[in-house]
Amino acid sequence: MTAPLAPPAAPEVLARCAALVRPALREAVERLHPWTAEMAAYSFGWCEVGGAPATAPGGKGVRQALAVLGARAAGADGRAGIPAAVAVELVHTFSLLHDDIMDGDATRRRRPAVWKAYGTGPAVLAGDALFALAVETLAAVPHGTRAVRLLSAALTDLVRGQADDLLFTGRPHTGPDRVTAEEYRAMAEAKTGALLGCACALGALLGGADEEVTGALERAGRHLGIAFQLVDDVLGIWGDPAVTGKPAGGDLREGKKTYPVLAALASPAGRALPGLLGSPERVREAAALIEAAGGRAGRAAALAEARVHTAAARTLLARAPLAAGAAADLLTLLDHLVGREL
Ligand code: IPE
Ligand code: MG
Ligand code: MG
Repeated sequence: MTAPLAPPAAPEVLARCAALVRPALREAVERLHPWTAEMAAYSFGWCEVGGAPATAPGGKGVRQALAVLGARAAGADGRAGIPAAVAVELVHTFSLLHDDIMDGDATRRRRPAVWKAYGTGPAVLAGDALFALAVETLAAVPHGTRAVRLLSAALTDLVRGQADDLLFTGRPHTGPDRVTAEEYRAMAEAKTGALLGCACALGALLGGADEEVTGALERAGRHLGIAFQLVDDVLGIWGDPAVTGKPAGGDLREGKKTYPVLAALASPAGRALPGLLGSPERVREAAALIEAAGGRAGRAAALAEARVHTAAARTLLARAPLAAGAAADLLTLLDHLVGREL
């Protein structure tokens, strides 16, 4: 008797999906104007500034993997999800190019952000080019109209979430106009969850799934996105820059109303926090105070909230009629992506 094969670990799931999608992603990027193509290739870690080939770390490729797994969850071959995977990866990269400008973040994935390396105007343009390429990629598939409709709905949400993220920085730390936990959740779901949900749903749509499966995957992806953003917020304050690829404390310096900050502000121990936030010199002090803000405040509260959303995603995945292998891979990814800090 042979022992059952162990399910693949998350890095293997991500690597397999990336290998499946990479040729189509490269082929799509090559269709761009050479200048915007180079900036896109730089963001993906495929080249240095100037175009010399490189193997710098790109992203984790979460969105493309969700699209491939969405197609497999619908019972199709993962290859059916490739156009969806390409589109969501392009949109994600576009959003990061513009986000780093808005957030004033000079570093991404341990390298200068595109706007630092090439200039702000060129980075805006490269983002636009990636956005257009994503729409073009999806419009060409058999269910193009529905697919483009799903993607544009996710983009509308993403922009809405990004708007709230930016506006929250100007809101007071305390009092009736302070940002509430519910407002944060809605912002995170829109900013991050919409595209993760869309990746799953688009893959499923291209794999021939019905509304029930597409809808369940979309909602599971949204919960995963909220949990992912909560963990990202925690890593943004306490993460090791060697792992996160960006300097520690950027969110605090920018005065971002991330969940750990909101939770600490709501606790008695967080009373001194407003004086420290948004001050580049006092970032370390602010982080210590948020962590020390006792009990369920700060870091612990953010991680507890992330666990609520991973549990919701798990329940949705368990209840939907998904192909077993893909469902197992989705669960593996879920645990890996948000389990890092839980
Ligand atoms: C980025 O949000 C989300 C979008 C680009 C819509 P964040 O600003 O929180 O993400 P990082 O930390 O820069 O990656
Ligand atoms: Mg950012
Ligand atoms: Mg941002």
